[in-house]
Amino acid sequence: MEKRTIKDLLGNYKKQLHHDITVQGWVRAFRSNRFIALNDGSTIDNLQIVVDFDKFDEEIIKNIKTASSLKVTGELVESQGQGQSIEIIAKKIQILGDNFSEQLEKTVLQPKKHSLEVLREQAHLRFRTNLFGAVFRVRSTVSFAIHQFFNQNHFFYIHTPLITGADAEGAGEMFRVTNFDLNQIPRDENGDIDFEQDFFGKKTSLTVSGQLNVETAMMGLGRVYTFGPTFRAENSNTTRHLAEFWMVEPEVAFNNLEDNIDLAEDFLKYVISYVLENCKEDLEFLDKRFAEEQKQKPEKDRAKEGLIEKLQSVVKKRFKRVSYTEAIEILLNSKENKKGKFQFPIEEWGADLQSEHERFLVEKYFESPVVLFDYPKEIKAFYMRLNEDGKTVSAMDVLFPGIGEIIGGSQREERYDVLKEKMNAMHVDTKELWWYLDTRKFGSVPHAGFGLGLERLVLFVTGMTNIRDVIPFPRSPKTAEF
Ligand code: 4AD
Ligand code: MG
Repeated sequence: MEKRTIKDLLGNYKKQLHHDITVQGWVRAFRSNRFIALNDGSTIDNLQIVVDFDKFDEEIIKNIKTASSLKVTGELVESQGQGQSIEIIAKKIQILGDNFSEQLEKTVLQPKKHSLEVLREQAHLRFRTNLFGAVFRVRSTVSFAIHQFFNQNHFFYIHTPLITGADAEGAGEMFRVTNFDLNQIPRDENGDIDFEQDFFGKKTSLTVSGQLNVETAMMGLGRVYTFGPTFRAENSNTTRHLAEFWMVEPEVAFNNLEDNIDLAEDFLKYVISYVLENCKEDLEFLDKRFAEEQKQKPEKDRAKEGLIEKLQSVVKKRFKRVSYTEAIEILLNSKENKKGKFQFPIEEWGADLQSEHERFLVEKYFESPVVLFDYPKEIKAFYMRLNEDGKTVSAMDVLFPGIGEIIGGSQREERYDVLKEKMNAMHVDTKELWWYLDTRKFGSVPHAGFGLGLERLVLFVTGMTNIRDVIPFPRSPKTAEF
């Protein structure tokens, strides 16, 4: 017996017409005790199974319910009915799994509106819905396209550690890693926690970014990237933040800020084009859902473009490149700021931009993805390269409609003395990061890189609105179920 996925079969069936074949999947619907819509997860499309109930035990027919898992053998024929090209005339049906499907049907498969929250509490079951099937197939394709882009451009994939002693972003938002007995934490003579007795003999945490490690690889391999989970203990309960998320971080020797922006733009466009090309059925489904969602909103809040249209236009448009200083001018002079419409009014140069400001620039002012660059050094991380003006650093953020910041990056400070001075000024532990500083002593080169939050890109591409719905098992404050 040759096992084929439904995707494969629907795409290429000519040779198998009028042969007996076997398929396996889950029942999505069973109409009139005669037509089974069978889905095996390989595509959003179902395969129709035609059941002539005279030929089967009543018992079997009775037990075919929504979500039942089946193995079906029968003749593959061109479909007489509308809506599908082929169907299988069942000869043998085997029910594979026990099924309490009434329960599943009510909670997961036929959810009422506004039930994405309910589904989050059933995250182990939500894969079985059309919506989450589509979202996670797209997420998988996005991840594949990311590797493909870097591979085609001669980057090497570096696996950076998850356990680290370094706070790469200097924001102090790390989850501690320890195997101390928490009831009996050893203390030294000063009464401080004695980390020397801990597993690694020092204070360690889960990493917030693989950047510092991947930079060391860049110094020998030239073009590298890391792609893995990162962890942040920031207490932001928003639709854009997770405590565990996946980050893609390329790092390129001899690149300056402009090269870095070019790379980010090419990279995003490649991945989005790849998804447009390779996830057509899922995107069509998500596009319809997106349009339905828009209808529920007041007219002024509706998206101007459909989902697929939006993705196509991002691929076509050249991203607007705007300095932080210009952006502040625009914000200071905006009606929104003058009329007190922002929750955080912009008062002067130096202000940190909030997502409301980013979204104003992208959605209202430029109506295009925007790359902001040259930020004040005080509001950015220690490793960013100091500009000639002594006030700004060669930072860049890519801002997307509906999302805000999707990428953050910079040209790095490659000058040993300047880096050391900046670390001291910003209270970054130069003893802990001795190895990072060391890289600037031997053959240091200008270089640049960035970090893309995978989930934010998946949000954008799928048109979903809550980041917890685009990662299989979300971790956020007070949530670590499953
Ligand atoms: O801007 P961030 O903090 O940059 C870095 O971590 C750098 N080390 C990257 C680099 O230059 N190699 O984070 C990068 C991106 C953000 O633009 C955002 O898309 C995403 O990571 N991100 C989050 N996504 C989900 N939940 C969170 N809590 C996130 N924090 C950042
Ligand atoms: Mg950032």
